Amino acid sequence: MSVRRLAEDQFQPATFAFSAENTVFEAATIAKYPEGRQQSAVIPLLMRAQEQDGWVTKATIEYVAEKLSMPYIRVLEVATFYTQFQLKPVGTRAHIQVCGTTPCMLRGSDELIKVCQHKIHHDPFHTNAEGTLSWEEVECQGACVNAPMVIIFKDAYEDLTPERLEQIIDEFEAGKGADVPVGPQINRHLSAPEGGPLTLLDDIKPVRTNLDPKPEPAAEAVSVPPADAGHPKDTAPETDKSLKTPVTAPAAAAANAKEAEKGESTTTSTKPAAKRGSKAEGAPAAEGAVAGADKPKRTRKAKPEGEA
Ligand code: FES
Repeated sequence: MSVRRLAEDQFQPATFAFSAENTVFEAATIAKYPEGRQQSAVIPLLMRAQEQDGWVTKATIEYVAEKLSMPYIRVLEVATFYTQFQLKPVGTRAHIQVCGTTPCMLRGSDELIKVCQHKIHHDPFHTNAEGTLSWEEVECQGACVNAPMVIIFKDAYEDLTPERLEQIIDEFEAGKGADVPVGPQINRHLSAPEGGPLTLLDDIKPVRTNLDPKPEPAAEAVSVPPADAGHPKDTAPETDKSLKTPVTAPAAAAANAKEAEKGESTTTSTKPAAKRGSKAEGAPAAEGAVAGADKPKRTRKAKPEGEA
């Protein structure tokens, strides 16, 4: 980066003053900041002064410093730090800023600079003989996708060829700069592909877009076992499934009838019924109990002599 200095004294005007319109802007801008912070308006005021006169003079810097109660050196630091501030007179009809950073350089910015050297002045920051045009090389302006490009005042002119830049310069020189379309100078919409879209050209309706309602998921036939929560908790031993299932009354009666058929004298089959003692089994059990009384008592056999 080159050293940025103020213009020589022969170019410096003696005084500076905002126009009536810009005086209103000045007061409104300073009023935006809280008491004691008015120095924050230094950049807006310097930029508005440049838009009014084309460049920032020494008188402008002194005026802003006094207005904002700032040391003169502080305002000078700001003006010389930011390359957006022009410190020397520029063309009254156009100051052309040619981007020379790598993408624009690879796309032919060198040829654009040659056009400026040929039509305006060999060196940057020098006006043409009439004082209407000037140029400089700048760093990337953020339009690399449409390289090469130039900035004139606040507008970008992109996708340039040397021939097209010559035409643009002639338009500004003739005072018709407002008629030049800004942006891409070829058949390109903004930063879209040159000549129109190159992708997603198939006329295929997307299967589903985010705007379409989502289909309801198919209901699956799921077998859900009945819940056990409604069943009363029963801890009675009669309903304990882990125990052996008790004999039901009809089954017990059938068993007893079978035993009775085998012979009335034999009463051994009544033993279980007697043990259970249920009402349904009561009659046979009672009979069995009576029959049991007639049951011959088991006697121990006499051991043969000699056994212990
Ligand atoms: S390099 Fe030229 S605009 Fe970015």
